[in-house]
Amino acid sequence: MAGKMLIVANWKMHPRTYRDAKLLLDATKRLAAKYPKVSLVVAPPALFLRDLAASQRGRKIALSSQDARAEAEGPHTGSVSLAQAKDCGATHVLIGHAECRARGERDEDVQKKVASALALGMTAIVCVGEEMRDASGAYLARVREQIRAAVLGAPEGALKRLIIAYEPVWAIGKEEAMAPRDMHEMSLFVRKVLAEKWGEAAHAARVLYGGSLSEKNARGMMEEGYIEGFLLGRASIEPNALRGVFQEMYPV
Ligand code: PGA
Repeated sequence: MAGKMLIVANWKMHPRTYRDAKLLLDATKRLAAKYPKVSLVVAPPALFLRDLAASQRGRKIALSSQDARAEAEGPHTGSVSLAQAKDCGATHVLIGHAECRARGERDEDVQKKVASALALGMTAIVCVGEEMRDASGAYLARVREQIRAAVLGAPEGALKRLIIAYEPVWAIGKEEAMAPRDMHEMSLFVRKVLAEKWGEAAHAARVLYGGSLSEKNARGMMEEGYIEGFLLGRASIEPNALRGVFQEMYPV
């Protein structure tokens, strides 16, 4: 696809210490500097956001929260709000990740978070994806429902700050990613659902693939998947694995 590829590095609950997080961010930055065709967003644990943001010198990597509540503040023990994540330096936020949905996050929660993130001027990376496939195609209805709910309150002017990360739950944390050809189909589907709401303007939103993306499948997915980037889990917390993905995307 034309334009820069976007890589979102979802560190999940890694690493254990701030020291290691800083080392990982520095290694990630050194790597990214060699690939000007890629833009990178790193989503570290929220506790490390502020210090990582402050530690960055020179060319900065955009930071993302992995999740955050829509309310600015309130009686929600153990949670962080979007406003707080933004105050700590996050310009992006992952919303509706499968691991959050598995803990009970609903489409309504996702919708509130997307509306709030966009209103705060942040970029919303909305994760959608079915838990399993079925021959009758009911999974498509589920993905449509997730997308429609997520973007219900999003204003058209904010579409360039909307990213849909399609991550089939059955391909997260596994050995194999989904087949690039199947992703191509899903990407067309996601774009169709967005276009049903916004028509031509929907082109401004970007579509990513996530789920066991690694050096084994990065090139095929990039060439055939009809996507604008990747959401990486495991391949983002190990510099050699990340290097492998970059090298496959842009062989020298
Ligand atoms: P994975 O995780 O790359 O380790 O499969 C992806 C994700 O959960 O976003």
